[in-house]
Amino acid sequence: MPRTDGEQALIERFSNTYGHLTQSETMLEIERAVCGCDYGCTSWSTREEADDIGNILGLRPGTRYLEIGAGSGWPGLYLAKRTGCEAALIDLPLEGLKAARERARKDGLADRCRIVQADGAALPFADGSFDAIYHSDVLCCLIEKQAVLGECRRVAAMGAKMVFSVISIATGLSDADHEIAAAGGPTFIESPLDYSEMLELTGWTVTARGDVTAEYSETFGDMFGFEKANIDEFERVHGAKGAAELMARRHRTLEALDQDLLRREIFSARPF
Ligand SMILES: C[S@@+](CC[C@H](N)C(=O)[O-])C[C@H]1O[C@@H](n2cnc3c(N)ncnc32)[C@H](O)[C@@H]1O
Repeated sequence: MPRTDGEQALIERFSNTYGHLTQSETMLEIERAVCGCDYGCTSWSTREEADDIGNILGLRPGTRYLEIGAGSGWPGLYLAKRTGCEAALIDLPLEGLKAARERARKDGLADRCRIVQADGAALPFADGSFDAIYHSDVLCCLIEKQAVLGECRRVAAMGAKMVFSVISIATGLSDADHEIAAAGGPTFIESPLDYSEMLELTGWTVTARGDVTAEYSETFGDMFGFEKANIDEFERVHGAKGAAELMARRHRTLEALDQDLLRREIFSARPF
């Protein structure tokens, strides 16, 4: 599926982040302090949340687990290590996948973790080949949300479970507030339909939907505090202008969160 210039630019930004920022010792320290993990994560999933997801998905040895937008391996490699499941991790930026491969090798997971460069909207897997599917704040980072959910449905076995977190714009906002939320959220936060409708249209039944905005807000606040204190790390990678832009984006997110304009939710679904 062709990607827009905006999507391609975002993938390049992630690539730069995975290749030059998130694996630095300073950033891994921050990640340990805020999220309880050290994989170079770029989502807002903490270790506590990852543990919950593993339990909801019922991961155990033999479960065929697929993660879309797995970045540098969080939380897929952690879940594979903790539960013994068979994992396939896909994403587009090679820099993230390289870090994930290296981590899988170091953790002795290379035999049961496939790490593949692929688009979530065109998965290189056979129909019905996974029992558990997860993605962490990925749908708000791409335009073709429905195509990704459709592909997840195609590769899901009957009886499979899918769980994902996603950030969206709160409903019922004035135009002005909607604009503040869109400016503060992830790049492709705008969605033509509610996620429950998109799930229904792509062959999924929603089994649970939980609001984790408060947890997101807290994690975001903690992360932003550490990031401001370590601005030189961002300047090293993005240059002074790039770091200032990133901080400005963080301020817009904070503004939107303070005004209760963003939502972070976790959906659980089963194929129908
Ligand atoms: C918020 S990050 C989450 C990464 C990782 N799971 C984590 O928690 O650190 C979103 C990820 O979605 C990936 N992504 C964006 N568009 C994608 C697409 N079309 N197919 C697969 N992955 C995509 C990005 O490259 C990025 O790594």
